[in-house]
Amino acid sequence: MMGPDTIPLSKREMSEQAEHFIVSALREGQLCAGGPYTERACRYLCEWIKAHEVFLTTSGTAALEMAAILLHIQDGDEVILPSFTFPSTANAFMLRGAKVVLSDICPQSLCLNIQMVESLLTPRTRIVVPVHYGGMSCDMESLSRLAHGVGFHIVEDCAHALGGQLGGKPLGSFGALAAFSFHQTKALSCGEGGALAINDSKLIRRSEIIFEKGTNRRPYLRGEVCSYNWQDIGSSFGLSELLAALLASQLPHFEQQIEKRGRLWRSYFERLDPWAGKHAVRLPHTPEGCVPAYETFWLLMPDRKHRDSLLSHLKQHGISAAFHYIALHLSPMGQTLDYQPDDLPVSKHVTETIIRLPFYASMSEAELERVTRAVTSYRW
Ligand SMILES: Cc1ncc(COP(=O)(O)O)c(C=O)c1O
Repeated sequence: MMGPDTIPLSKREMSEQAEHFIVSALREGQLCAGGPYTERACRYLCEWIKAHEVFLTTSGTAALEMAAILLHIQDGDEVILPSFTFPSTANAFMLRGAKVVLSDICPQSLCLNIQMVESLLTPRTRIVVPVHYGGMSCDMESLSRLAHGVGFHIVEDCAHALGGQLGGKPLGSFGALAAFSFHQTKALSCGEGGALAINDSKLIRRSEIIFEKGTNRRPYLRGEVCSYNWQDIGSSFGLSELLAALLASQLPHFEQQIEKRGRLWRSYFERLDPWAGKHAVRLPHTPEGCVPAYETFWLLMPDRKHRDSLLSHLKQHGISAAFHYIALHLSPMGQTLDYQPDDLPVSKHVTETIIRLPFYASMSEAELERVTRAVTSYRW
C-alpha cells in the first residue's frame, strides 16, 4: 500500500481537455474504432514518425501481433529479438509459429547487440526486432545495413520510444513496421492502447485488410468498392474511439511533455552521477546521435544483493522504485527454449541489477530531490 507521502513510480494527470474530448466522443455516439479522434491521433502520429500509415490498436501487443500476420510469419521462420524485453515481443511471433531466437543486449544502451544478431542469422531469419529500451535508440545504422545485405525485415518495438530520435530521424521510422504502446505505464497513455506504423508502402493494402478483420471494409468506406467481404486472415485490432479521444487530447502537448521529462532525466543524472561513479553504479548512457524519448530513468547496481537492498531502502523512505524485465531466457517459458542462464550474460546481469526510479512529467524538483537523497543515503 502506498502512503499519502509515497512517491509513485509513475503518475498521470488528465487535463480538462481529456474530459472534454471524451465527453464529446460519447455525445457524438461513435464508440467503435475509426471516428474523428482516431483520425486526428493517426495524423499526429503519422507526421511524427513520418510513416505512410498508422493504425491505432488495442495494445502494443496487438500491434506486434498484427505485424507478424502482415509479414506472413509462419512455422519454421526465425525471429531474432533481445532477451531483455517484455514477453509480447516474443509471443507475437511465436503465436504465428516462428522460432524465437534470443540475442543479448549491449551493456551501455541495454538494446540489441548487433554483432550477436549477426552471428545468429540463418537462411530462415525473417525478422529482427530491436527494442528501444527506456527510449534509448538501438544501433539502427548497423542493423539497417545488415538488413539490406541479408534481406530480413526490421520491426521496431517502440513501446518506450515515441518521440525519440536517432540521427535526426524518429524512432519507429527505420523498420518496415514499428509497434507503439499506450499502456497505463507509458509516457503517452490511454490506459490500454497501441499503434502500428507502416513505413513500407508495399504493406499498406494488406495492412488495411488485416486490421479490418480480414475484410476490404476500408476500400468500401472510401467508395472504391460497393460492398465489403472476406479477403484474407485478419483480426479485431481497432482501438475504441473513446480511448482514441484520450490519446488525441494529449498529442498536441506531448512534445512539451518530452522536454519536461528530458529536464528531469538530466537532473537525475547530474545529481546521481558523482555517487554512481564512487560506487560502481551505472547510469543510462545516451548513444551518439540519439535524442532519447526519456521513458524511464534506471540505474544498474553492482550486484543483485545491493539492488534488492536499495529497493527495500527506498520503500522505507516512501519511494516506489521497481525492477523489470526478467530476461526472457531466464523465465519459465524462456527455459523451454533451451537457453542456459549464462548464454546471454548481459541480459542476466541487467535482470539482477536494474532499478527504475520514479519518473513522470509532473514530477517536481522537490520530489526528485527526495528520491536522489534517499538513493545516495543508501548504506553500502
Ligand atoms: C518492450 C515492450 N514491448 C511490448 C509491450 C506490450 O505493450 P502493451 O502493454 O501495450 O501490450 C511492452 C509493455 O510494457 C513493452 O515494454
